[in-house]
Formats: sequence, C-alpha cells, structure tokens
Amino acid sequence: MQFLFTLLALSAVPATVFACEGDCIVGITNAFVSNYSNPIRIAMTGMAHQISDLLPGQPDTETAMSYLQPLLTAYKKQAYQGMEKAIFPSYFHGKCLDAQGNEPDGCPNPDCPIVCGTPGSLVHFYSQLRFIAYNETFHTLQALATPGTDAYQQVEKAVMDAASSHSERRRSYSRIYPRVLSNAVNVAHNNKNSGSGSGSGTGSGSGTGRNSVPSTRTRTEDVVTNPASSKILVPVFLKRAQDVKSGLRSIMAQAHPLLGEACGADGAEETNGLPNCSWEDAMKAYILSFP
Ligand SMILES: *[C@@H]1O[C@H](CO)[C@@H](O)[C@H](O)[C@H]1NC(C)=O
Ligand SMILES: *[C@@H]1O[C@H](CO)[C@@H](O)[C@H](O)[C@H]1NC(C)=O
Ligand SMILES: *[C@@H]1O[C@H](CO)[C@@H](O)[C@H](O)[C@H]1NC(C)=O
Repeated sequence: MQFLFTLLALSAVPATVFACEGDCIVGITNAFVSNYSNPIRIAMTGMAHQISDLLPGQPDTETAMSYLQPLLTAYKKQAYQGMEKAIFPSYFHGKCLDAQGNEPDGCPNPDCPIVCGTPGSLVHFYSQLRFIAYNETFHTLQALATPGTDAYQQVEKAVMDAASSHSERRRSYSRIYPRVLSNAVNVAHNNKNSGSGSGSGTGSGSGTGRNSVPSTRTRTEDVVTNPASSKILVPVFLKRAQDVKSGLRSIMAQAHPLLGEACGADGAEETNGLPNCSWEDAMKAYILSFP
C-alpha cells in the first residue's frame, strides 16, 4: 500500500529527484567494493611477505598468499552486504523524509536537514561517503583476521601445516638438521642428569641392523626414529610451533594498518581524503550517472 502511494507521489511530481534505490544502491556499493580490491590486495601482499619471513624456508609471496586465501574468500563473501548497509541505511537515508514522512523544506537538496540518499547528496557528502567505505572495509577485514573466526583458523592451519611440512623435509634431508638434533640430544642429556629418567634407555638396541652406517649417522637416526626418544624432540618443535602461531597473530593484526597504508591514511583518515582510496572524480561521475 505504502509502495503504491510512493509510486503515485513520484508520478504526480515528475521533477522529483530520485532517491538512490535499486540499481543505484547496487551499482554504487559494487563500485566501492570493487575499487577496494586493489588496496586489499596490496595489504594482503604485505601480510604474505611477513608470513614468508615467519616460515622456515621462506616460501615465495604467491605461496604465502595462498595461505591467506580463506581470509580473502570470507571477505569477498560478506563485503557487499556490509558495504551496502554501511552506506545506505546507516548514513544515506533513501528519500528525504522526516519522521512524520514529510519532505522537509529545502529537500532533496544536498543541504537539507536530513542526509538524503540521492545521488546529489552522495556527491555533496563525498568525503563522508569515502570514509564510510574505508571504515567498513577495514573493520570487516580486521574482524575476519581476528583469532576465533573460521577464516583465521583456516589461515592458521595452512601456515602451521606449511611450517611442519618444512620441518618434516628437514628431518629427512637437511644438513641444518644436526643442529636441531644436538639440541635435542642436550635436552636428553640434561634430563638424564637431572634424574627425570624420561630420556634414559633410548637408543639401547635400536641401532641394530644399521652396523654398516657410520656411527654418528646411526645415533642421529636413533634419536629421530625411536618412539621413546621422540618425546625429547617435542619441546623443541612445540616451541617453534608456538612462535609461528604468535607470529601469525601479529601479522593478521596488521590487516588494518596495512590497508591504511595502501590507502594513504595518516591517522586522520576521516579528513585527510585517503588519497589512494578516494577515486573521487570517477566515483562522482558514476554516482551522478543515476537519475
Ligand atoms: C572506481 O570505481 C569507479 C566507478 O565504478 C570507476 O569508474 C573507476 O575506474 C574505479 N577506479 C578504480 C581504480 O578501480
Ligand atoms: C565504522 O565501522 C564500524 C563497523 O561497521 C561501525 O560500528 C562504526 O560505527 C563505523 N564508524 C564510523 C565513524 O562510521
Ligand atoms: C598512492 O598512489 C600514488 C599514485 O598512483 C602512488 O604513486 C603511491 O605509491 C600510492 N601510495 C600507496 C601507499 O600505495
């Protein structure tokens, strides 16, 4: 019924400036979401570089980027909805009607007492619109990059898997390995001396059948393959896993500052114009293409 009245009202006053509705809302929301894909990619690349530095063997950026994919996927899934809500009902209110449903004097001009959602008003308040889009984007991204979200868990799993598969490889081939091993052996030795007994007896008889292997090599393999002695290695790898986990947490917390950097934010982004996330001329022209 109300819809019918609206239609009648619109057709009765042909000169009425249209509110941004339908295609206008969808188009403008999509324009911001899509323009933000580049600064988001820049921020993610920055995070990928840090993840690469965090991991043993420093995987290349593309590989590190693939670990962040769940974050990007989750962001894409909810970006449109969040952006539309942040821009339209939250700030720009469709038609310029007051609480009584009347259009105040001077409306729908941009400076009318209520902020209307007309294209002219969106252009007039462009600095506000620009900030809303930025604020919404970084809040969404940062919320997803917080421990506890599905996206975060998936990123963490990918990164931890990468860290542990690298140490598996190392365990089999690497020349760096003996250093890790000797740490473990020291731990075992200390345990023995402190009387904990947890490491005692390891290696007794487990070297059988390996007589042809040089003796140092035999000892190496004993410590790694003997199930009893694997206990000894746990603290070393566990500590490393904790380091990767907490390192990842601080990297994920960079989502917001890195996006700010990509946008040219300087801590006063509500007023500084976000030089690289403004797209002012193109956006204004696009907004005004709606009636
Ligand atoms: C931003 O969006 C506007 C409107 O769709 C478009 O004209 C412009 O090319 C976009 N700019 C960038 C850098 O994506
Ligand atoms: C920024 O975005 C958050 C999350 O959507 C919202 O709660 C907050 O009110 C916004 N701030 C401004 C100034 O728009
Ligand atoms: C912002 O854009 C300018 C011009 O395109 C570019 O030279 C500059 O590197 C960009 N800044 C950031 C932080 O991306």
